[in-house]
Amino acid sequence: MKILVTGAKGMLGRTLLRILGREHSIFPADLPETDILDEKTLDAAFAAFKPDAAVHCAAFTNVDRCESEPEAAFRLNRDGTGNVARACAKHSSRLVAISTDYVFGGDSDVPYRESDRPAPRTVYGKSKLAGEEEALAALPSAAILRIAWLYGAGGPSFVHTMAKLGAAGGPPLKVVDDQRGNPTSCEAVASAVSFILGKGIEGVVHGTCEGICSWFDLARETFSLLGIERAVAPCTTAEFPRPAPRPANSALENTVLAGAGFEMPHWKDALKEFARNEFSRP
Ligand SMILES: NC(=O)c1ccc[n+]([C@@H]2O[C@H](COP(=O)([O-])OP(=O)(O)OC[C@H]3O[C@@H](n4cnc5c(N)ncnc54)[C@H](OP(=O)(O)O)[C@@H]3O)[C@@H](O)[C@H]2O)c1
Repeated sequence: MKILVTGAKGMLGRTLLRILGREHSIFPADLPETDILDEKTLDAAFAAFKPDAAVHCAAFTNVDRCESEPEAAFRLNRDGTGNVARACAKHSSRLVAISTDYVFGGDSDVPYRESDRPAPRTVYGKSKLAGEEEALAALPSAAILRIAWLYGAGGPSFVHTMAKLGAAGGPPLKVVDDQRGNPTSCEAVASAVSFILGKGIEGVVHGTCEGICSWFDLARETFSLLGIERAVAPCTTAEFPRPAPRPANSALENTVLAGAGFEMPHWKDALKEFARNEFSRP
């Protein structure tokens, strides 16, 4: 298959290039050559490469900055996604558009399913949801793959931050323990993307690693895997106010993938594998 990846230089894009590139021919689309806000450069990339499918990763991903730059967030996450979906429709390409757990409000007691109604509270979540809607309006056969708590080779991610802070030593590190979600590796997302493309799955799909934990649990597991001795202390969200309010529960249930026979790895297994590759020292 020929696959065009937008945001190819980003954290997820780089892993997709490496993993999908083993079996497919890849066109890495990113700034400055391919700008998803410039329909001419986008169209030129599609016309030259003639992709069978596009995986759309490019996004305004800084959740806190989205609050102070809502126009830029909507331009990239809504309008940019619409442009990519229209290019797919025009060039008869399939689309997997990457979205987020932040489309949900976070007040549910149970993991969110694909059939649950989104209710984003942040500019980031609202702009990503608007992007989902744009994609499905332009290309009803698109797959929207919602992922969460992402980490991958080279970062930046929470796992990388913890590795750095842990290695620096010092007093117990306070980490938020009242937000729950599914830490998810870029490698696992790449497998889900392959499966979705292979099976021709359409519509909204949740694709996070199995198992639920808090940021505190994730920090503790990271320290344990890396042999870091610095202590971790649980704290509340209220102790770390951020411009964009974080959902208390953003765990997703992979109902569609499970129904199609695909299981994501458990977050602890995926993290163990990642830590071995990312942080092993010669
Ligand atoms: N990271 C997470 O925890 C997380 C969680 C849930 C969902 N997601 C979603 O997963 C996807 C990938 O996230 P990520 O963390 O890999 O993102 P990322 O590292 O921020 O990568 C995004 C890439 O898109 C590029 N880009 C920005 N504007 C562009 C434009 N106009 N045209 C073309 N490319 C452009 C960026 O370039 P510059 O760096 O030069 O701006 C960057 O290379 C996103 O859709 C995100 O919303 C991420």
